[in-house]
Amino acid sequence: MNRKLSIAFATAIVGLTLAGSVQAYDADWKRGRVYYRMVCTACHEAKAGGAIAPTTKTKAEWAAYIKADKHAKGKESLKHYVSKQYRDSIKATNKAAAKFADVPEQELLEDIKAFVNKGAKDGDAPAKCS
Ligand code: HEC
Repeated sequence: MNRKLSIAFATAIVGLTLAGSVQAYDADWKRGRVYYRMVCTACHEAKAGGAIAPTTKTKAEWAAYIKADKHAKGKESLKHYVSKQYRDSIKATNKAAAKFADVPEQELLEDIKAFVNKGAKDGDAPAKCS
C-alpha cells in the first residue's frame, strides 16, 4: 500500500472508531430494573393478574418480544409504555416515571432490554421477583 493510501485508511479507521463510540449506548440494566419494577410490574399487578417476571421468557424470547413491539396479546405497542408521552401521563403518581421523565425513549428501552436479558430464564441472574 502506498503512503497516501495508508494515511487515508488510517484516517478513515480513526473516524469510524470515533463515530462508533459516540453512538454506542451503554445500557444501564439497573435503571431498566427500576423502570420495569415501578412502571411495568406496577401495572401488571393491578391489571394483568399479577407480576410478569423476567424469568417467564428466555433471552431469545425477550429479544423477539421487544422487537415485535406487540404488547398485551398484540393489542398495543410496548414502546408506548416507554415513551416520554406515557411517562409524562403518569409522572404525578409514579416516581420512576418522574425520575426518568427526560431519558430518551431509545435509551430507556435499551435499559429494559438489558435488565430482562440478565433476568431471563437463561440469563446471568434470573429474576423471579420482578
Ligand atoms: C398500563 C398497564 C401496563 C403497563 C404500564 C405495562 N403493561 Fe405489560 N401488560 C399489561 C396487561 C393488562 C397485560 C396482559 C394482557 C392480556 O393478558 O390480555 C400485559 C402483558 C404483558 C406481557 C405478557 C405478554 C403479552 O404481551 O401479553 C409482557 C411480557 C409485558 N406485559 C411486558 C411489559 C413491559 C416490559 C412493560 C414496561 C415497559 C409493560 N408490560 C408495561 C399492562 C401493562
